[in-house]
Amino acid sequence: MTLVVALSTFLLLLRSPLAAAHSVHRNAFMRKSDAVNEKLLEALNEADTTADWRYSLPAARLDRLHASTMYGRGDVYEFGVYEGGSMKTLRDIFPHDHLWGFDSFVGLPETSGDVQQQGFAKGQFGKHASSFSIQGLSESLGRTGKVDFIQGFYNVSLTPSLREAKQMRPAQYIDIDCDLYVSSAQALDWIFSNGIAVPGTLIGYDDWWVNPCSKGGEQLQPLETGEGKAHAEIAHKYGVRFRCVMGPCMWHEVVASGDWGPIFIVEDVGVASSDNGFNMTEKQINAWRDAHPNCLRIRRSKEHAVHTKAEQLTSSNRAVPLASIYRCC
Ligand SMILES: C[S@@+](CC[C@H](N)C(=O)[O-])C[C@H]1O[C@@H](n2cnc3c(N)ncnc32)[C@H](O)[C@@H]1O
Repeated sequence: MTLVVALSTFLLLLRSPLAAAHSVHRNAFMRKSDAVNEKLLEALNEADTTADWRYSLPAARLDRLHASTMYGRGDVYEFGVYEGGSMKTLRDIFPHDHLWGFDSFVGLPETSGDVQQQGFAKGQFGKHASSFSIQGLSESLGRTGKVDFIQGFYNVSLTPSLREAKQMRPAQYIDIDCDLYVSSAQALDWIFSNGIAVPGTLIGYDDWWVNPCSKGGEQLQPLETGEGKAHAEIAHKYGVRFRCVMGPCMWHEVVASGDWGPIFIVEDVGVASSDNGFNMTEKQINAWRDAHPNCLRIRRSKEHAVHTKAEQLTSSNRAVPLASIYRCC
């Protein structure tokens, strides 16, 4: 503990004036020599919301409140690979760890149990660049640590015997970027029923805010739809106590201009009083929605609108390119 406090004091002295404008909580443990943290600082200083929010992870794990994380001790899991863009970020952040990527590689399944989001229609992300291959992605990601892909739709691929068969270790980090409620629910259920998430595991969500930021989603709270809905249900089902570590699962000023993906830590599993860890009031949710550049961009985009009734989806809403807002969702 003394060492952590001494380290934090030393690192505080290294802060740049620009970084000082941001929260102490966020920056206290940054090392200027760390290339990953440099990218995060750059992103925050320029409020560059196209930068990958995953670069917050190294800071999240060094926060002294979370010193007991699994960080550095387990495998890294990503649900929603597509062409591997964010897996490359994860390899950057976790150069030597075992990465596991889960994807159908033929795009999204049908939405069920949630609103219809026209940007996440069945088959979206099914087409890949002609230069893409799983083998090629494996080779590029496998240079410093191991990487494996589990191909198939989650309702088929996530079997009870998979973990043991592949000798998967508990997770230091789990990345949920599979867009839909149904996919996130299947992924999280497998994760918690197989002991992949344990106390100390960090979990980040890429699409937490997409539906609440979409046209027609103004009445939706993050815990009522998409990845957030699956998160809340899993907290309840497995008695998970989550805590918000970083990003828009809590309110503070910098969040309004910066990070996009909320990151939680699993504090406990199997407890009587579960906690989904999302700590924003309705007022804060609305204020964040009105302030965050990605949120505003989604609201203005043609691609994203939610429909509460399936029949409202017309054929013209299907599988549209998301290039303009791809970095955020
Ligand atoms: C937004 S893309 C992932 C983008 C990627 N993480 C990145 O940033 O480069 C979502 C991916 O999730 C996959 N996916 C969603 N639901 C799935 C399911 N139920 N089973 C398998 N794959 C699924 C889709 O095939 C798609 O490739």
